[in-house]
Amino acid sequence: MKKDFLCILDFGSQYSHMIARRIRNLGVDTLLCDYDTSISHILSKKPKGIILSGGPFSVYENGSPLISKKIFQLDIPILGICYGMQIISFLFGGKIEKSKFKEYGKAYFIIDHSNNNLFYGIPKKSIVWMSHFDQVKNISKKFQIIGHTSSCAIAAFSHINKEIYAVQFHPEVKNTEFGMSILKNFVFNICKCTSNWDLKNFIQNAIDKIKKRVDKGKVILGFSGGVDSFVTAYIIHKAIGNSLNCIFVDTGLLLKKEKERISILCQKMNLPIKIIDAKNRFLSRLTGVIDPEIKRKIIGEEFLSVFYKESEKIKNVKFLAQGTIYSDVIESSSKKEKLSYSIKSHHNVGGLPDPTFMKLKLIEPLKELFKDEVRKIGQKLGLPEEILYRHPFPGPGLSIRIIGEINEKKISILKEAESILLQELKNYNIYDSVSQAFIVLLPVKSVGVMGDKRTYEYAAVLRVINTEDFMTATFSHLSYDFLEKVSNRIINEVDGINRMVYDITSKPPSTIEWE
Ligand code: XMP
Repeated sequence: MKKDFLCILDFGSQYSHMIARRIRNLGVDTLLCDYDTSISHILSKKPKGIILSGGPFSVYENGSPLISKKIFQLDIPILGICYGMQIISFLFGGKIEKSKFKEYGKAYFIIDHSNNNLFYGIPKKSIVWMSHFDQVKNISKKFQIIGHTSSCAIAAFSHINKEIYAVQFHPEVKNTEFGMSILKNFVFNICKCTSNWDLKNFIQNAIDKIKKRVDKGKVILGFSGGVDSFVTAYIIHKAIGNSLNCIFVDTGLLLKKEKERISILCQKMNLPIKIIDAKNRFLSRLTGVIDPEIKRKIIGEEFLSVFYKESEKIKNVKFLAQGTIYSDVIESSSKKEKLSYSIKSHHNVGGLPDPTFMKLKLIEPLKELFKDEVRKIGQKLGLPEEILYRHPFPGPGLSIRIIGEINEKKISILKEAESILLQELKNYNIYDSVSQAFIVLLPVKSVGVMGDKRTYEYAAVLRVINTEDFMTATFSHLSYDFLEKVSNRIINEVDGINRMVYDITSKPPSTIEWE
């Protein structure tokens, strides 16, 4: 059976992925496309509806992303959100202006047309989430205003005889009280989609697709040991068995006993992996490097050459698989760098080999999914909890947790400190209630006193955060007892650290890792 799905044209909003996720939660698949995807390509996919996302632009700015007007003649329902709304209005000859104040946050939305399909079943007054600077000031006669707020006279409009709708607020954000109902109305009442997407179908489809695509070729997978790469490996292994070659690179920047742990887990799960010891080459290239972006670049290059060497040993290898998930893509894709604001050149995408160089095609079965969706898939595949609920560990490993220059001594200090933290998170039963926890070793030494002796050692940071999607995060509110225990143990047991501090910043404005 052909699945119904919606196409989301991404104009660079931080929330585009959220729209995709919410619609998948309704049981309808989504295809997230760059805003400049050609109309013929969109049409060839036969979507039941199109959503134009928000974005950090002004329609009047030079070079701001727009779409062809032809999209409005396709006879496919369209919903514009925030910047997407402004584009629709602009392309129909409406006027958009900078408002006096940036409207950000909660607003009361009043429906002006209660019999509008988009707002079916929604109370006349409800809370919505706004995030915009520009405002639609007037609209073409082909549209009618269907909602407003106290500071935004045109907060929603619809076409008088076509299925084109637009809202200034963000229905995909949780804080919009009836956001899900609005999306539901669009997906089911307006686009007439049938709900037929679920994770079980996703797994079977992914397996079938990989089988067909790989055929008799071989696949090489950069295996990191995190949940994403385990799930990726497991799905591909189910599809093509031993034509999958999992390569685990020991960069020397892993957590204590990580290699042994991975080895045991893979054995338990019948997943063949090859461990490559590349400690020396990574470390020698990183010696003396301070700049975090250069560190990442070197690590990417080293991964690339290790992979290249390995791929040459495998006959008929045609594909490179990666455990990329959606949050990896949004923070580092080159299109996004143009559209939104580049945050770090990072994650699987930036850190792993360039497949074109290796003449390999990419397989990324989880690219559209969020961490919690990946975990649910892992659960369905029967992966142990130890894998499913493991905190994420960055590809460049401990190198980005040693600020400044890296050397063997610092790596060993950090490994010991991280190991103590992990033990205490488990002892205090905290591990599962926080999203990520680690230590950062600073390039700063300070004076301390231990056993009547003056010390002059490194300061380290404890970073523990809670987050839903790793795009935003808050520091975890941990007990003083726990903080004291971790701090005491690290200072007493790890030679080289004499001062611990706790990082109490959120993301944004900070990031999770320090680098
Ligand atoms: P930031 O520091 O950007 O981190 O707030 C968000 C999440 O991504 C992880 N992270 C990485 N993961 N390669 C990875 O695979 C990387 O280069 C990388 N940098 C950050 C980070 O640990 C957090 O979970």
